[in-house]
Amino acid sequence: MLHSYSIFRLSCIILFLPLGSVYTKDFNALCSTCRQLVDNFDKGLEKTAKQNFGGGNTEWEERKLSKYELSEIRLTEILEGLCDSSSFECNHMLEENEEHFETWWFKRKTKHPDLFKWFCIETIKVCCPKGLFGPDCNTCIGGADKPCHGNGKCDGDGTRAGNGKCSCDEGYEGEFCLDCSDGYFSALRNDTFSLCKECHESCVGCTGGTNQDCKECRNGWEKDQEGACIDINECTKDPAPCKDNQYCLNTEGSFSCKECDIRCSGCKGPGASNCLTCADGFKDEESTCTDINECTEDPALCKDNQYCLNTDGSFSCKECDTRCSGCNGPGANNCLTCADGYKDDEGTCTEENKEVAAFDSEGSQTGDSPEKHEDL
Ligand SMILES: *[C@@H]1O[C@H](CO)[C@@H](O)[C@H](O)[C@H]1NC(C)=O
Repeated sequence: MLHSYSIFRLSCIILFLPLGSVYTKDFNALCSTCRQLVDNFDKGLEKTAKQNFGGGNTEWEERKLSKYELSEIRLTEILEGLCDSSSFECNHMLEENEEHFETWWFKRKTKHPDLFKWFCIETIKVCCPKGLFGPDCNTCIGGADKPCHGNGKCDGDGTRAGNGKCSCDEGYEGEFCLDCSDGYFSALRNDTFSLCKECHESCVGCTGGTNQDCKECRNGWEKDQEGACIDINECTKDPAPCKDNQYCLNTEGSFSCKECDIRCSGCKGPGASNCLTCADGFKDEESTCTDINECTEDPALCKDNQYCLNTDGSFSCKECDTRCSGCNGPGANNCLTCADGYKDDEGTCTEENKEVAAFDSEGSQTGDSPEKHEDL
């Protein structure tokens, strides 16, 4: 048989390639390649649908050459666009089976219009119809229309590969994917159909979807008098679950500890208005802990040639500018008085010599001139 010969040759060729042995048995990959060939064939059909013999079908051409539509020229054009030059698998399958495409094109197309079915499934036998698997195209569990009862994937579905076993979707389990997994309950079920839904977040196992249907409560929940699982408020427990400078935040099934605001020393919630007491450097002002301005409260905090800088919760002493003798801020424009060798010029302490030097270089003028001011 031509077909088995092709497969045999394919195997031989591939076995001698360094990484080839994978392909020899991989019907899954062969089926994808075949599907790709057929998809591209369909694209080629579409692309050439409005074409003709270049100059348009003359009456003579239509009679003598048959129509372009059914011509070998059109087939060749389609086959040329079937594979990317880089795809070894595709080009190989095409080379091995070119005559099948010709047979189909000229002799089978009318009777077997579905090329995928005729070529991939029935002729070179690398695929199965949907819902069927394995070398002999056996039917998947649950039937070809609903493999794995619609709740999973049948191994090898649609290819000549696989063992037909179901891998079930989330929430389903068992050979037939009809049973519900842990954390799910059966909302609907008969011999061929099963719907599993997720339990309420408070449950470990359940018979229904609410917190009253739990078999047991999950950690962080407990049963109330009616048997429903309700959240435990860990924050009200004794001893308190959080550290000294943290507050406790209760959540469904759990809790978390959050750091207090830096303005607090101990707190019962977020922000400076939830402090138990204020942190050092802060004072209670209308129930909110607020920064103390040490600089204004005690003007003598810093040394003579320093100024005081208030910060959140503290302060620091900074050296005055060298042009100052005492200051209340940075730079030469915050001096209380000017240092030796400097004089006040419109609120800024300026080197006395410099003024003279600049003045000298300009000539021998005296008094204020506009030029002198521009220089400064
Ligand atoms: C099973 O249930 C599904 C969904 O309700 C329904 O479509 C199907 O006909 C039922 N089959 C049988 C055998 O009762």
